[in-house]
Amino acid sequence: MARSGKISVIGAGFYGSTTALRLAEYDIFETVVLTDVVEGKAEGLALDMNQSRWIEGFETKLVGQTTGMDGSGYEAISGSDIVVMTAGLPRKPGMSRMDLIETNAKIMRGVCENIAKHAPNCVVINVANPLDEMTALAQIVTKFPYNRVIGQAGMLDTARFSHFVAEALNVPVGSVTTLTLGSHGDTMVPVASACSVDGKPLSDLLSADQIEELVVRTRNGGAEIVALLKTGSAYYAPSAAAARMARAVHENSGKVMPVCAWVDGEYGLSGAYLGVEAEIGKEGIKKIVETPLTDSEKVLLVEAYEAVKAKQADVSAL
Ligand code: LAC
Repeated sequence: MARSGKISVIGAGFYGSTTALRLAEYDIFETVVLTDVVEGKAEGLALDMNQSRWIEGFETKLVGQTTGMDGSGYEAISGSDIVVMTAGLPRKPGMSRMDLIETNAKIMRGVCENIAKHAPNCVVINVANPLDEMTALAQIVTKFPYNRVIGQAGMLDTARFSHFVAEALNVPVGSVTTLTLGSHGDTMVPVASACSVDGKPLSDLLSADQIEELVVRTRNGGAEIVALLKTGSAYYAPSAAAARMARAVHENSGKVMPVCAWVDGEYGLSGAYLGVEAEIGKEGIKKIVETPLTDSEKVLLVEAYEAVKAKQADVSAL
């Protein structure tokens, strides 16, 4: 397939740099730009990644660029079709994602003003936490249409849930289908009714208590890794999730993925960024897909909506 287009990744921490490398290794983009505020970091990482091209056999070129608080350096992202926003602080052990809201909101504002200025037609994929609130803020600051600002969370939480199910049943992870909706936080909604292994309902294979145990572990999936790492948070599964979303945008694939998207009447809910399933394509969200839910799952989704909506009402003041 011919390579095309430019994608930028803001923030060259572990999440951003791993995402940039995954995107480059797909070998479908002309250019992957990686930026960071630490002088020389993005340039150094991009050079290192470029030197892996001959070994791994990909031609996509990586460009590293230091950016300043004054907006300097952001010309490097101009004309990007997609921008993955990873800049922001990760959690420390014991912190909730919500503890990051004020610091990350300031970073988000600065970055999004520059995204709007230099890449006004791009699709933004936000991964900064607290995810649902920062995605809402990215839309407020860029003023992009809602469909062009998406958050990454459902793919990651679903991947974690699938991993735990595969481990519990000792089956290949590829035979497992799971789904999480709601928020990337305490009101995450694992949709047990949509879960199966080789087409068999999960509820035929595990007891309700066993499923609940996996659900709790999924909900705390990020914190479990933060506690083990002691500094920083997860990035291999998160970057895989963000990169696959970006790929679906680039390829205009129409793939249905659990993502954080603006709801406008779906499930009877409106006016908030919420974890739902959606078709992904070149305009970002093509269409939200309403997954059939049981009554109790619907109640949980409404609870998640109310929680994120209340928080998102405050973000414009941050
Ligand atoms: C996690 C962070 C990245 O869940 O939100 O690991």
